[in-house]
Amino acid sequence: MKNMTIAELLERYPFVEDYFQQNRLQVTGFEHLTFEAYLQHFSAEEIEDKAIDIERFLPELETYIEKMLEFLGVQDDNTVQSLTIIPGTDKNGNPEKFENLTVLPSQIISIVGPTGSGKSRLLADIEWAAQGDTPTGRSILINDKMPDPKWRYSANNKLVAQLSQNMNFVMDLRVGEFLEMHAQSRMVQNPEQMSARILEAANHLAGEKFLVDTPVTSLSGGQSRALMIADTAILSTSPIVLIDEIENAGIDRRRALELLVSEDKIVLMATHDPLLALMADRRIVIQNGGIHAVLTTTEEEKSLLLELDKIDGIIQSARRKLREGSLLTKQEIFK
Ligand SMILES: Nc1ncnc2c1ncn2[C@@H]1O[C@H](COP(=O)(O)OP(=O)(O)OP(=O)(O)O)[C@@H](O)[C@H]1O
Ligand SMILES: [Mg+2]
Repeated sequence: MKNMTIAELLERYPFVEDYFQQNRLQVTGFEHLTFEAYLQHFSAEEIEDKAIDIERFLPELETYIEKMLEFLGVQDDNTVQSLTIIPGTDKNGNPEKFENLTVLPSQIISIVGPTGSGKSRLLADIEWAAQGDTPTGRSILINDKMPDPKWRYSANNKLVAQLSQNMNFVMDLRVGEFLEMHAQSRMVQNPEQMSARILEAANHLAGEKFLVDTPVTSLSGGQSRALMIADTAILSTSPIVLIDEIENAGIDRRRALELLVSEDKIVLMATHDPLLALMADRRIVIQNGGIHAVLTTTEEEKSLLLELDKIDGIIQSARRKLREGSLLTKQEIFK
């Protein structure tokens, strides 16, 4: 907390605003400073006038944050420095042949392999923080340690934000209500504003626009997927993002990935799409339920990605024109 700027504090713990108000600390304009630096900017005169007690404020804010987190029932220790996968067995019970695989924040790992080979299973192992208690017998370490079991059960402070292949909404809510409810549960100060931002991002990914008062149950598959992606990207504080096949939703998959990836997150993505697979730093190859190889994307592949991207552009534009009801011409498509 000591090294966080006031802006970061407000973002992570929106309730500190109340603390500043209660103590009549005008932090506006000083958001780029740490709390300590902010306290130190006061002149000796101001310190006396306003009875600012630097010695008191610093530990007090720390305690305040701790108590509030406790009160709200959210723990604060979900910083993840590393995720490690320890080998288990494939579908025949043969040991997987890879060394412990460690992934660090800001890295993207893709997972490739034939249909039914076990890609979703690997994501599920991570989501469940498996400890040899899944069909694969794999174990997952977080920060080189066995993860706290609270991550399995806590809805508030999830280790993992998962975008699964099945996204079934059961609640009878409108889009706006759903988003605001979610934002509130995340202790966001401005749920309405946040919900508008998510809706905008979602519509940016989806084809036909939907509105705040569209019932969640009447969204199409692609639209609800777009909504979940935007919601996860903007609202989720989970340090690990698991993505199961964003390409099949008929949404802008590249934009979706860009939205989801952020500097401090670990991203694992199962995909059948060569473009997405090559956008990753490394890729896990799954065969017969086991991790068969872990490959680093080569320079040649990265430059190949640019070529593939051009081809993809052609396909996308054909898709767009077909969707719009146009007739395709060779000249227009390959221009
Ligand atoms: N190591 C393993 N041991 C036992 N069962 C496994 C193992 N790996 C995967 N399975 C099982 O194999 C089945 C298919 O796996 P999964 O759904 O993960 O495939 P997938 O690669 O995601 O396929 P798709 O591309 O169709 O999504 C599941 O029932 C899964 O639990
Ligand atoms: Mg799958």
